[in-house]
Amino acid sequence: MADSISYDILIIGSGIAGLRAAISAANIDSGLRIAVISKVQVMRSHSVSAEGGTAAVLAKEEGDNLESHIYDTVKGSDFLADQDVAERLVYSMPYEIYQLDHWGMPWSRKEDGTIAQRSFGGYSFPRATFAQDKVGFFEMQTLYDRCLTHDNIDFYNEWFCTSILTDEEKKQFRGLTAIEMKTGEFVKFKSPAGIVCTGGAGRVYAFSTYAYSSTPDGIDMAYRAGLGLKDMEFVQFHPTGVLPSGILISEGARGDGGHLINNKGERFMKKYAPHALELASRDVVSRGMMTEINEGRGFKHESGVDCLKLDLTPLGRDLILNRLAGIREIGIKFSGVDVIDEPIEIRPVCHYMMGGIHTNIDGATEMKGLWAAGEAACNSTHGANRLGANSTGECLVWGQITGELAAKYAQSHKDASLSISQQQIEAEEKRIYDGIFRGRGQVNPYQVRKEITDMMDKKAHIFRSEQDLSDGLRQLRESKAASWKHVDDQTQEYNTNFTNVMEIDSMLRIAEVILIGALNRRESRGAQARIEYPKRDDINFLKHTLAYYNNTDNNDRAPSMKWYPVSITRYAPVERHY
Ligand code: FUM
Repeated sequence: MADSISYDILIIGSGIAGLRAAISAANIDSGLRIAVISKVQVMRSHSVSAEGGTAAVLAKEEGDNLESHIYDTVKGSDFLADQDVAERLVYSMPYEIYQLDHWGMPWSRKEDGTIAQRSFGGYSFPRATFAQDKVGFFEMQTLYDRCLTHDNIDFYNEWFCTSILTDEEKKQFRGLTAIEMKTGEFVKFKSPAGIVCTGGAGRVYAFSTYAYSSTPDGIDMAYRAGLGLKDMEFVQFHPTGVLPSGILISEGARGDGGHLINNKGERFMKKYAPHALELASRDVVSRGMMTEINEGRGFKHESGVDCLKLDLTPLGRDLILNRLAGIREIGIKFSGVDVIDEPIEIRPVCHYMMGGIHTNIDGATEMKGLWAAGEAACNSTHGANRLGANSTGECLVWGQITGELAAKYAQSHKDASLSISQQQIEAEEKRIYDGIFRGRGQVNPYQVRKEITDMMDKKAHIFRSEQDLSDGLRQLRESKAASWKHVDDQTQEYNTNFTNVMEIDSMLRIAEVILIGALNRRESRGAQARIEYPKRDDINFLKHTLAYYNNTDNNDRAPSMKWYPVSITRYAPVERHY
């Protein structure tokens, strides 16, 4: 029988959204007991890898304004963003930047001492605040330091959450089950309130900027608990992933003046975005790059992969050392290229999921007592394509909002009985121990993981076709049906073989949702380019996708799909030009 630990609020995930939520909740009530549970050490959360910037309107006297940030975000989203949500982001961001500043964030500065900002794709003003090219690292460190000043925030690092526990009748959050990785102990956390902040799931692709830990476990927990997943087909490909690893070369490099070139030495982006060139929105730049590659104007990387080049030599040594030192280091260590001296080979790379757990504008999910924030959530800030630098911002804003709301909810539910049926716990133990840990599968699960990620790279990439998506779905279902669930390593302590197999289990379900969403959306919008339907179709598809888990007969069937309206408050959709 699982041990039980009780808290007032459970925060799942220790990235920017999770830490910001913890601080926000602790600020509401120092008497609330808050747990942050993460499968990694805090400073190993993928947020640490954010590089180039966090967008906010700070320079009003120099001509920037809130309206422009809202419009850029909505235009960037290809008009699928919920416009009231984009407004909330933009209005809240200046506060979050100054709040971090007051907590000790070492923002890069202008000569006059004010916070510096750089250009990023899709913006009509340089509004990405930055700390050199290590924004995520410093934001995380600042937030973590702040968390440590609150003695009512406890950290459960290297605890792998497995499922959400609910009051099934009232459809209320009650807690979750988790495995302490150090001991292998299976534990039940009880709480009236929870916030899912487990980040994106970009490791369902092989060529990816994400940490290896960025698998969909958190999103999948919500899905299996009956919550909708929204707009999962919209996967962002960042234009500049270094070869062969996929490590990110920040958009800040183009924001500060870097050029993309093809094998003819041309700045080809002038064909695809005559005004913005390399600083068009990411979907536009990545499509332009893939077109160049597909039409034979790419380079061949020594690994055999086609690519283009990013030329930072026009920036000069001093600027690179001052603002892009981390990028230079990545180039030297992971590509053998010093960007001060020569262009570096790059290619579009999976970088972000616009979709996630369906929430309303306040980050509330469809389950009472449960919120979601950051990349795991889809509150529809980014629609079909996110602008760079709006993600760390989203984590801060909805970390703050959901932390506050969860705290107020927990205050009013302090004495609620948190009964959880024994049946739920037993079913979960059976699922993970009989189904996975003691499973008898024959096929190597790591082979299945490779099959899924390679398939997603090939079949659900930037340009998508009915044929590819259908083939991908068929392949995925074959992998899913194969007898693969087993764990070779039967030890208790730090059994990463076990947690890896659990991750693969979630990847199979979530990759299926992405493929089905992409198949159902017969239009091209933002990050989804369907070759048979090259135009955006506002008459039929100006709506969000929702996918619900369908576990009839305990058999993981295809998700049930629905549509959900877009909130349009200010701007009627128009064709985008950059
Ligand atoms: O390119 C970058 O620095 C990434 C930023 C982002 O995805 O927001």
